[in-house]
Amino acid sequence: MNTEFSLSSTLKDKIKSDQAHVAVVGLGYVGLPLALTVHEAGFQVTGVDLNSDRVAAINAGQRVITYLAEDRIATAVASGRFGASDDFAAIRAADIILICVPTPLDSAGDPDLAYVRKAGASLSAHLQPGQLVVLESTVWPGATQTVLRPLLENSGLSAGKDFFLGFSPEREDPGNAVHHTNTIPKIVGGDDPVTRDLLKTFYEKVVSQAVPVDSCAIAEAVKLVENTFRTVNIAYVNEMKVALDQMGIDIWDVIPAAATKPFGYMPFYPGPGIGGDCIPVSPVFLSWRARDVGSALPLVDLARSYTDTTPATIAQRIIADMSVKAGVAAAQARVLLLGVSYKKDIEDSRVSPAIAILRHLEAAGVTVHYHDPYFPVMPLTRDDPDLAGRQSIDLTAGALAGYDAVLVTTDHTHVDYALVAEHARLVFDSRNVFDGRGISIDRDKFTKV
Ligand SMILES: NC(=O)c1ccc[n+]([C@@H]2O[C@H](COP(=O)([O-])OP(=O)(O)OC[C@H]3O[C@@H](n4cnc5c(N)ncnc54)[C@H](O)[C@@H]3O)[C@@H](O)[C@H]2O)c1
Repeated sequence: MNTEFSLSSTLKDKIKSDQAHVAVVGLGYVGLPLALTVHEAGFQVTGVDLNSDRVAAINAGQRVITYLAEDRIATAVASGRFGASDDFAAIRAADIILICVPTPLDSAGDPDLAYVRKAGASLSAHLQPGQLVVLESTVWPGATQTVLRPLLENSGLSAGKDFFLGFSPEREDPGNAVHHTNTIPKIVGGDDPVTRDLLKTFYEKVVSQAVPVDSCAIAEAVKLVENTFRTVNIAYVNEMKVALDQMGIDIWDVIPAAATKPFGYMPFYPGPGIGGDCIPVSPVFLSWRARDVGSALPLVDLARSYTDTTPATIAQRIIADMSVKAGVAAAQARVLLLGVSYKKDIEDSRVSPAIAILRHLEAAGVTVHYHDPYFPVMPLTRDDPDLAGRQSIDLTAGALAGYDAVLVTTDHTHVDYALVAEHARLVFDSRNVFDGRGISIDRDKFTKV
């Protein structure tokens, strides 16, 4: 019996009997729900994160992500089979290691795999024979094998022989009330049949369906192709919104009718732009890798750059309308943004179009405040450290009347839009919340943007 077979069959037995110990590296929006889901599937789980405050909060059972069920972390910790650590030595005891660290763009707008590299280097110091390592962070096709693998092999162990290396893209949709980590089919890619078999065996214990593909690169490409599809379609619908508006047609009347076609069309909805750590980043990864191999994705590049123009278009429209309709110049204007999250009902402002709009308005001299139930105070973030400490305005009749304009940037569920309709002087809606929810509003002061 060769070593590789013996190691893989031992691990497979452990997985099948729920005896495998799983480590999740990176306990953010993706890693923490995944760690909880793996634990709830019956495995012992240790999360590893460099942020010791977060580790302490998780070990204290605190609900560190608000859309998670209130006692979910506390229940997991109380079981004695779920915990967190800021020490990479914790991965020595694991059989399976899932990596969920950030993969943003760098200051030049290129893929930044520094977090993956750092995690890989930290892991290599503790890697053990027979472990299965799975990268879940979004990366360009080829990165698992060419970037992560050499770092792990610095341990002296060989991938596919002494340990197993796979890629499984995260399809987490934070705040989605319908689809959860364990109900979303999971793509699993490995470069050899033994690794693929281990991946399938493990993930089928955790999620409703594991979908094996023949290499890490295919799995990496699946994720980017999915996300880029969204980016291109969002650019398309936002461009269409502007042109139809000029024709006197409201795109929000067009989309539901078009969506009655049972084939060949799926609805995408306009908004203030794209945001989050995924949809804006994935097309850039794909395009960067295409150039790297001597190809190009001009359509994707155009869609991606078009989406960047949407916040400025909206800001300019508001400034122009305040001047024409209310005679207020930008330098004297006060605008309230409803929402800083990049999408509804979550506390995540990364790459938020609301913040891009805020920046455009402030650059033109406008005084900008915000209301967001998920951000009573703006935290210190990687991209917008200067916004830290700003506070959400209480939404009262008096406060609303004190602004020249109110713009709906995020369609959070629990915001009193009827109060806004009644008391705001000018209202701009980038999410169709008023018509979409049947809230009547004086059309003279209302504009969809
Ligand atoms: N947020 C989403 O909706 C989403 C959806 C699908 C995929 N993704 C992808 O998943 C990956 C993770 O994203 P996220 O939103 O969870 O990020 P995040 O910023 O919420 O969390 C990342 C966590 O990793 C920790 N970390 C960073 N470097 C580390 C290291 N070297 N060792 C240990 N811990 C480290 C950070 O402290 C943080 O807690 C990214 O590649 C992202 O593109 C995100």
